[in-house]
Amino acid sequence: MKTIIGLDELRASRLSLAGTVGLVPTMGYLHKGHLSLIRLAKSECDNVIVSIFVNPTQFGANEDLSKYPRDLERDLSLIEPLGVDLVWTPTAEIMYPTGYQTWVEVDAITRPLEGSMRPTHFKGVTTVVAKLFNAVQPHKAYFGQKDAQQAAVIRQMVRDLNFPIDVIVCPIVREADGLAMSSRNKYLEGADRKAATVLFHALSAAKVLYESGERNAEALRGKMKEVLESEPRATVQYVSCADYDSLEELDVVKGKALLSMAVVLGKTRLIDNFVLN
Ligand code: PAJ
Repeated sequence: MKTIIGLDELRASRLSLAGTVGLVPTMGYLHKGHLSLIRLAKSECDNVIVSIFVNPTQFGANEDLSKYPRDLERDLSLIEPLGVDLVWTPTAEIMYPTGYQTWVEVDAITRPLEGSMRPTHFKGVTTVVAKLFNAVQPHKAYFGQKDAQQAAVIRQMVRDLNFPIDVIVCPIVREADGLAMSSRNKYLEGADRKAATVLFHALSAAKVLYESGERNAEALRGKMKEVLESEPRATVQYVSCADYDSLEELDVVKGKALLSMAVVLGKTRLIDNFVLN
C-alpha cells in the first residue's frame, strides 16, 4: 500500500494503475462504516484509492474544524489489511493553495435539511469531491447512505457536470444498539451515548407506521418527533419525510422516500436516516 501526499506523485501513480479504479473519499478517523465502503470498492474494482483529507471548506465558521478527530497512523493500519492500493492524504495547501478561487455549487437540492442548518457545507463538499474526482479520475466512487443528502448532491453534481463516474451509495453501518457509526460518536459521553439510540428508535417507529400502511408524510414526521421528544437530552433540529431524489418534503409518500433527522445531544450533532421503498 502506497501513501502519497503530493498531486504530481498521485497523478504518476494513478497513470501506472491498469484496469478500473474505485475511489473512497474520507476525512479519516475511520470506522466500520468507512471500511464497508472500501470493502465494496475492493470487490468491484481492480484498484482502490482511499483519500483522507479533513476538508476545511465544508466546516462552518461555528463548527470546530480543529477539533475534528484525526489519527492517520490508526487509519493506515485499518486500511492496510483490506488490500487498498493507494492512500492519498493531501494537505490543505495542496487542495487550496494561496489564491484559490474556484467553487462547485449545486443548487436546489443543497438548500433543505443539512443545507438549512449548515448553509456553506455542501459548497465545500462538492468542491472538494470534484477536485478529488479530477485528481484521481476514478471509474467508481463510493459514498455512504449515512450522509443521505451528501450522496444525493454528489449524484446530482456527477449528472450535471458529466463526470464519467459511477456513484455507488452503500448502506449505513450501525452499532449493535442501532446508532449509526460516525467519527463524531467519540464525543458522546455517558448518558448522551445511551440517549443517542433515540434516532434509530424514532426512525424505526416511523417505519413501522409506514409498513402498517400510513402514507401521510406529516404523520410519519409527527411519529419521529414524538419519539425524539420523549428523550429529554435530545434537541431536534429537523425531521423530514422527503422524496428520495429531489429531497423535497412530501405530503403523501409515493415511491422511494427518505426519512431523515438531525438531533443535538450535549455538544454532538447527529444525523440519521432510513430509506422507504
Ligand atoms: P466522512 O465523514 O469521513 O465519510 C466518508 C464516507 O463514509 C461518506 O461517504 C460517509 O457517508 C460514509 N460513512 C460514514 N459513516 C458511515 C456509516 N455508518 N455507514 C456507511 N457509510 C458511512 O463524508 C465525508 O467524510 C466528507 O464529506 C467527504 C465526502 C470525504 C468530502 O470531504
